[in-house]
Amino acid sequence: MRGNAVQPPPQARAAAAPALAARPAGAAGSDADSWSKLTRTGGAGAGCRRRPLTLLRADGVRGRAARRSRLIPIDTTCAGSGSPNDSMTILVTGGAGFIGSNFVLDWLADPATRGLPLVNLDALTYAGNLHNLDALRGDARHVFVQGDICERALLDRIFAEHRPRAVVHFAAESHVDRSILGPGAFIRTNVEGTFALLEAARAHWGALAGDARAAFRFLHVSTDEVYGSLASDAPAFTETHPYEPNSPYSASKAASDHLVRAWHHTYGLPVLTTNCSNNYGPFQFPEKLIPLMIVNALAGKPLPVYGDGLQVRDWLYVADHCRAIRAVLARGRVGETYNIGGWNEQPNVEIVRTICALLDELRPQPQGPHARLVQYVADRPGHDRRYAIDARKIERELGWRPAETFATGIRKTVQWYLEHAAWVAEVQSGAYRDWVAANYGRR
Ligand SMILES: NC(=O)c1ccc[n+]([C@@H]2O[C@H](COP(=O)([O-])OP(=O)(O)OC[C@H]3O[C@@H](n4cnc5c(N)ncnc54)[C@H](O)[C@@H]3O)[C@@H](O)[C@H]2O)c1
Repeated sequence: MRGNAVQPPPQARAAAAPALAARPAGAAGSDADSWSKLTRTGGAGAGCRRRPLTLLRADGVRGRAARRSRLIPIDTTCAGSGSPNDSMTILVTGGAGFIGSNFVLDWLADPATRGLPLVNLDALTYAGNLHNLDALRGDARHVFVQGDICERALLDRIFAEHRPRAVVHFAAESHVDRSILGPGAFIRTNVEGTFALLEAARAHWGALAGDARAAFRFLHVSTDEVYGSLASDAPAFTETHPYEPNSPYSASKAASDHLVRAWHHTYGLPVLTTNCSNNYGPFQFPEKLIPLMIVNALAGKPLPVYGDGLQVRDWLYVADHCRAIRAVLARGRVGETYNIGGWNEQPNVEIVRTICALLDELRPQPQGPHARLVQYVADRPGHDRRYAIDARKIERELGWRPAETFATGIRKTVQWYLEHAAWVAEVQSGAYRDWVAANYGRR
């Protein structure tokens, strides 16, 4: 197989020119510059009036009738104001999940992008949690729509109503162990859902003209796992590394990456793809390694480590990932792939030891060090041995580097979980418990 850095076809090269490319491709600069240029040429984001939400049912019924049914708030604030092409709204999918909710919060707080509204489409699966977005209650810049990215009719209505100038696509089934137990949901959301979103975006973009057409972007958020497993001495993944996905999760993400690539090559859709390493930070569902270890350690429960614990991953603090996505969206070259990583390779067991040491310092237990809770359990089938990201391209072209070291990021993360016991308790009272029992009970 081949890598996925692509050159735009001729029709896309023409479309990729102005607005976002206000600075020469490849030059580093601030996202604020790019976005404020757009704000001046656009209108809705900067000048739209704040009006109450309209309630829209999945089948399109509005108003009082809709109130009695499954409600989807659709914000008409910016729809239809000014020229039909001037929307500054972005559409975020999966914005109630771990990375998506961090992205939404950061987007609305960043001086470069604040004031630019966003529509957040999320199905609220077990991984979606609206409490992640509590800070945005009453904020008219954030419009939440509960819905499925596989539902084309819903997507078409959102595009028609909000006329987004960009899509940032996070929505996915994201947990490797779940993909092993039940791959169907991964094929549906990650492959079919991305297909539906690409088609809806293509229809919307195809009807745009002028600056709005040139500025439109579809940013697809993907993972380093599509590249497969590295030998211990192999160089880190670059953007041209062959695709060799090994799990149902990574295969479904690889398939979605290929769809995105093909929609660019075939139809000229102005896409950007990011492949990022393991994220950690606030709001991560406690099925993933770092929050699971923190939460179990606090409860005095075993800390299950797969196999010998020497699987190596690169770790990135989630706020750094969100900043990288904003940089790629503002200044990335259309059709390109950007690898994003933390320059922080560590074996899993080392991550667990670090968390234990931090908890020993911040929340010591009378029974002794938290590391006493470590238990080695049967390894995950087909477990990739090592991932490592070469993030030089995004640094060279867009000037992005992680701001957090692992030491600073993991301390912030442990502190966040200590300070948000109520969030953890709510998550644990739901499907999380059943899932952990199903996965670890048999090991
Ligand atoms: N977590 C990581 O370390 C990591 C690293 C690299 C890339 N990624 C990618 O980043 C994205 C977000 O990852 P995450 O860890 O935040 O995932 P997550 O599982 O925490 O969140 C996924 C969100 O998508 C929503 N969703 C799922 N199916 C949907 C559907 N059919 N329609 C609409 N919404 C749906 C869920 O409700 C949830 O809010 C994913 O695409 C993932 O592949 C994650």
